[in-house]
Amino acid sequence: MTAQELKEKFISFFVKKRHKKLPNVSLVPENDPTALFINSGMHPLVPYLLGEPHPLGKRLVSNQRCLRTQDIDEVRNMMHLTFFEMLGNWSLGDYWKKEAIEWSWEFLIKELRLEPKRISVTCFAGDKDTPKDEEAAKVWQKIGIPKQRIYFLGKKDNWWAVGETGPCGPDTEMFYDTGKKKCGPKCRPGDNCGKYFEMWNDVFMEFDRLPNGKLEKLKQQNIDTGMGVERTTAMLQGKDDVYQTELFTSITQTIEKISGKKYQGKNKKSMRIIADHLRAASFAIGDGVMSSNVEAGYIVRRLIRRAVRYGRPLQINKPFLAKIAEEIIDQYSGEYFHLKKNKSKIIRELSAEEERFNKSLERGLREIEKYKVLNGKSAFYLYETYGFPLEMTQEIAQERGQKIKKGVFEKEFKKHQELSKKGVETKFAGGLADHSEEVTKLHTTTHLLHQALRDVLGDHVQQVGSNITPKRLRFDFTHPEKLTEAQMKKVEKIMNEKIKANLLVKIKTMTLAEAKKKGALAFFGEKYSDKVKVYMIGGYSQEVCGGPHVKSTKEIGRVKIIKEKAVGAGRRRIYAQLAHGS
Ligand code: SER
Repeated sequence: MTAQELKEKFISFFVKKRHKKLPNVSLVPENDPTALFINSGMHPLVPYLLGEPHPLGKRLVSNQRCLRTQDIDEVRNMMHLTFFEMLGNWSLGDYWKKEAIEWSWEFLIKELRLEPKRISVTCFAGDKDTPKDEEAAKVWQKIGIPKQRIYFLGKKDNWWAVGETGPCGPDTEMFYDTGKKKCGPKCRPGDNCGKYFEMWNDVFMEFDRLPNGKLEKLKQQNIDTGMGVERTTAMLQGKDDVYQTELFTSITQTIEKISGKKYQGKNKKSMRIIADHLRAASFAIGDGVMSSNVEAGYIVRRLIRRAVRYGRPLQINKPFLAKIAEEIIDQYSGEYFHLKKNKSKIIRELSAEEERFNKSLERGLREIEKYKVLNGKSAFYLYETYGFPLEMTQEIAQERGQKIKKGVFEKEFKKHQELSKKGVETKFAGGLADHSEEVTKLHTTTHLLHQALRDVLGDHVQQVGSNITPKRLRFDFTHPEKLTEAQMKKVEKIMNEKIKANLLVKIKTMTLAEAKKKGALAFFGEKYSDKVKVYMIGGYSQEVCGGPHVKSTKEIGRVKIIKEKAVGAGRRRIYAQLAHGS
């Protein structure tokens, strides 16, 4: 079975079970500053798992592109990829463990035609916060999995969370016996020895991890499942290496052609890293993340640089990223139209970074030769001067039988950060930290605008961005279509009525949970501390915010919407100004 067939089977299976297909969205998370990339199929669904009604209903299915950076160092082993596709089905407060498990089983046996005898499962063993998952185990037993193939494991194996805060819960994972020998008497699913192949994860998402670390029950019991496309394809084809599937053969062949070397022996590691990292970097750039020194851009930079550096052991001495990226983009163009559209931009960006890095790589590698020992301090120097990512210097050190202490590198890094932070603070003094009268007025106006938009357009309106200068406010929100002239007038009218009514602005401090309970607008992903400030404008608007705000609305004067436009699919932007003297 090819990857394409697997994807089609999965989607149509769940569509038959009355699931609606979700779009495969950008790797850049919307409205979630806590994450750099979408890391799972459920990630874009967080607001709905928390209880927002989803426009497509309570049963959803998708194939979603994902990028996981914690796996960067593990790429050299065969099943970990930085970029991958994930199939998943969801119940948003609809079906629960029984149906989820029964359907997983039905899909594995009837659609993928796996042998029931070779399947084992793991369930959550329980801990001080959450009990052992007997319920899931009972469903498995009823289906016919004998007790000795049901393993109970702890949080590390059988608990899934999108991030440090947010929706989470115990899970049950399904494994296939590859027929390999047991690695020892304790051999069990999840130990990564290669005997048990992990296929699918059903998460029972009924908790929300609050910023203070406490677990709170969600409003609804959700199902969130995930099946990695590349790994499952490899397994179905009897390969123990994703790189041997049709998803990678043309990429490795291109690397073979460029290098004149075969995909074998020591070359394998370099070729895998190049293939994996360029897939990830191409998709990330395709979604608009350019290589830079911060956040997501820095991940892209590291991926590209590591790929370039692994061209060295293959003795590739000319620029090579463009050719490989071309292959990747062509392969995925059928399903990812935006990749095709952005092809030349992606290739340009990769090649520019390659060229930049090649220059300093030469110099850096020459410099390294002069060093007798590589340590944390020198690693930081190489990072700062030649842009060598830490893991790259670590690998070079390892090749020489040396070890770099990450702690020392990090200490140097922090020192450097503190120095540059001082710079940043002064830079923003006129921007983010502007508490001038105009900016303060516009802050309050933004809250009024937000509520007025919800009044006029509906509760689906959510803030996705805001930017204020002393001259104007800019407000981004979710809404599927252009606002009509009449809608804009209405929004403006409401805002001005509320200003005229001279509503008092009050602040109350409470926990985020309390704020949500009271119905205050709060946007998922904002880095809320334990207590939040809720600004209340009369009885009209309640919103979690850091301020500053006016004391009463009359101070604002009068507001005028000056422009409305689209900013990407399903998002609109409004500019508004304060009108003086009228
Ligand atoms: N969120 C879970 C995972 O990524 C299941 O979809 O494994």
